[in-house]
Amino acid sequence: MIVAVDGPVAAGKGTLARRLADVLDLAYLDTGAIYRAVAAKMLAADADPNDGAAAEAAALGLRPEDLNRDDLRREAVGQAASIVSSQPAVRAALLAFQRDFAQRPPGGKAGAVLDGRDIGTVVCPHADHKFFITASPERRAERRHKELRARGEESIHARVLQDLKERDARDSARSVAPLRAAEDAITLDTTDMGIDAAFAAILALVAPAEPSGAS
Ligand code: C5P
Repeated sequence: MIVAVDGPVAAGKGTLARRLADVLDLAYLDTGAIYRAVAAKMLAADADPNDGAAAEAAALGLRPEDLNRDDLRREAVGQAASIVSSQPAVRAALLAFQRDFAQRPPGGKAGAVLDGRDIGTVVCPHADHKFFITASPERRAERRHKELRARGEESIHARVLQDLKERDARDSARSVAPLRAAEDAITLDTTDMGIDAAFAAILALVAPAEPSGAS
């Protein structure tokens, strides 16, 4: 079983996807971490994320341990990831790994949950279930701001909102694999919905409970 969970920055897709994988014992891949790892490697080497050749080389040279860097969640890395990921050669270099993970999930799992921007449209167009998780920019900025503060990072709400809008705009406007819901995706707006309610809604669609009394 392949489950695709796409959506913009801080809509809750990572939390929902990870939890779904846990509950259903499926493998989980945070595809944003892959783009973040490419960006983090470039920033660490003082390379310009807009440099297409350097970005492609970083993507081709990506190793599994790069996904464990502890700077991946930083805001600066997220912004650089959005620049790096708009380059077609970078996306091409990372596509096979993501498809392979979905088709042959590690650990002998019976399926995989992948979250990102283009899972339902490009990486796994034949996924069994596709979700597009969204929320208003204001609500997403509020969540991200709290998350950053909780991690001890400096954060200014207005700045977070501006960065988030910039990143959404860049991710939506790029020519290759832009951020958008697949035609057959179910969209869930979490603006006024708690994460537990959102998770229950998704789980009910992916693994409907058997009627009680069924044997
Ligand atoms: O989801 P996350 O915020 O970690 O993603 C970082 C950036 O990586 C996004 O802003 C987006 O530009 C890029 N990305 C992508 N395609 C994906 C996942 C992430 O372009 N499937």
